This record gives sequence, structure tokens and C-alpha cells, in this order.
Amino acid sequence: MSRSILRSSLAAWIAATGLCLSLPAFAQIDAEAVFKDNDCHKCHHPTKAKKGPSLAKIAAKYKEKKLDEKEAIKHMTAGKKVKLEDGSEEEHKVIDTKDVKVMNAVAKWMLSH
Ligand code: HEC
Repeated sequence: MSRSILRSSLAAWIAATGLCLSLPAFAQIDAEAVFKDNDCHKCHHPTKAKKGPSLAKIAAKYKEKKLDEKEAIKHMTAGKKVKLEDGSEEEHKVIDTKDVKVMNAVAKWMLSH
């Protein structure tokens, strides 16, 4: 193998490795997108009460009661009956993932409001 071919294949290898190493950055969880994809935003606005309490209100309640992501995850997986702002009752939406990492990211994002 000539030196220049060796050098260019080495460069290609380094580029490929670099690409692989940078992939986790793309794989980072976009909690807000998950929240939207699950229609959570239809009931939970960042600041205004919709059918459900605002994210700010939920975050404040969690802070006051010293609840954490675990409690929020329970809520988004249990499908328990909840009272909507208009007084009607409905089973709470269950998040469309079994990946605890995704749930945790969504919970963290919600509670950061
Ligand atoms: C049909 C409207 C509706 C949708 C859609 C909805 N929620 Fe809710 N959510 C509510 C209501 C109403 C409450 C308040 C229930 C209560 O306080 O008992 C609530 C409360 C919560 C709470 C706080 C519970 C607590 O402990 O106070 C979390 C966390 C939550 N929702 C997450 C989500 C996530 C995540 C999604 C999307 C997967 C979602 N919600 C979709 C209506 C909705």
C-alpha cells in the first residue's frame, strides 16, 4: 500500500470514528418533543391551566411537597382517573414509551418549569 493511500484511509477511519463518537449527541432525548408527540401539551400548557394544570403549577406543587420525577413517572404510567379543569373525569393519558430514561427526561423537563 502506498503511503498516500494509507494516509487517506487512516483519515477516513478517523472521520468514521469521530462520527460514531458524536452520535450520542443526536440520540439525546428531546423531552419537549416526546411531550408534544404524546399530546400532553393539549392539557398541560407551560403557564396556563388547560384541561390539566400548567407545568408551572405542577412544578410548584412538586417542589412544595418535595416530590420528584418518580412521582411524575407514576402519574404518566398509571392511567388513573383524573378530574379535568371542566369537572369531567377521564383516565389520565399513559405515555407511549416503556423507556424509563425517556420518562425521566420528560418528568425532569416538566418539573423544570
Ligand atoms: C386529557 C388531558 C390530559 C392529558 C392529555 C395529559 N394530562 Fe397530565 N394531567 C391532567 C390532569 C387533569 C391532571 C391533574 C390530576 C390531578 O391533580 O389529580 C394531570 C396531572 C399530571 C401530572 C401531575 C400529577 C401530580 O402528581 O400532580 C403529571 C406529571 C402529568 N399530568 C403528566 C402528563 C404527561 C407526561 C402527559 C402526556 C403523556 C399528560 N400528563 C397528558 C390531564 C391531562
